[in-house]
Amino acid sequence: MPLILVHREEPIAVVQLNRPEALNALNPALMQELVVALETLDDDAKIRAIILTGSEKSFAAGADIKEMAALTAAEIKKQNPLQVWDRVATIKKPLIAAVSGFALGGGCELSMMCDIIIASDTAKFGQLEINLGIIPGAGGTQRLTHAIGKSKAMEWILSGNIYSAQEAAEAGLVSKVVPAAQVLNEAKKLALTIVEKSPIALAAAKKAILASLDLPLTEGLQKERQLFYQLFDTQDQKEGMQAFLEKRKPNFTGK
Ligand code: CAA
Repeated sequence: MPLILVHREEPIAVVQLNRPEALNALNPALMQELVVALETLDDDAKIRAIILTGSEKSFAAGADIKEMAALTAAEIKKQNPLQVWDRVATIKKPLIAAVSGFALGGGCELSMMCDIIIASDTAKFGQLEINLGIIPGAGGTQRLTHAIGKSKAMEWILSGNIYSAQEAAEAGLVSKVVPAAQVLNEAKKLALTIVEKSPIALAAAKKAILASLDLPLTEGLQKERQLFYQLFDTQDQKEGMQAFLEKRKPNFTGK
């Protein structure tokens, strides 16, 4: 059985984690399949936005504890199982997480590697690693802190508690909470709005926003300015502004 299902609905694609017997625990085989699927779609001109989802019961219940439990520090360092995870955060196209059920540990971290999180009212978020005698290892201490601030990130990560979708929304981790039956449709609706825009401008916007996580403000502002000016060499900028002047809808071509 494939660990990842890809549903193409051009111009969007839905990538579904498919390891129900383990609540979509993210073992190395699944993560390898996931990054290959995402990178293939990222290179596919017919796909303009990607949705990552799990099942109604579980987005992902974290890294696979059974496959890690017996490892020594030297062994896990040598295997470096989290290296492949980093590739999720290098996808250039808009990547939306549609989260139902458990998004725990590495599952919460995987959702945070996406650009936008839409949650169902059944979603449960948390960084539970502390309960296992470890800490988040796939970006949780960094991305969660950026998303919800230091005090809340400390509370989440040091307590190992589980938080409701509503609490995650109030903390700023997720964009929107909708009934479970609607979460995928809501993500698709958003994706379809996004894909109407210029793909070059979308990629530039994503790059600039992600730079804000890495760079001091002055450098981030420079990066933004550089990307802003560069867009004036694109046909899409000419088309977007001309369409406004002519009071019509723009027809972006990605050039
Ligand atoms: N790894 C491996 N297997 C897992 C798993 C995980 N993270 N989460 C669930 N499973 C498996 C269970 O072992 C169980 O398998 P068996 O039937 O073979 O025993 C199956 O999925 C169903 O799970 P439960 O019976 O536990 O289901 P539940 O509804 O009673 O509880 C749960 C659900 C609260 C999510 C519970 O499964 C749980 O606490 N899971 C672990 C969550 C966790 O700690 N995640 C962090 C992992 S470490 C990490 O992610 C490191 C990192 O930063 C990258």
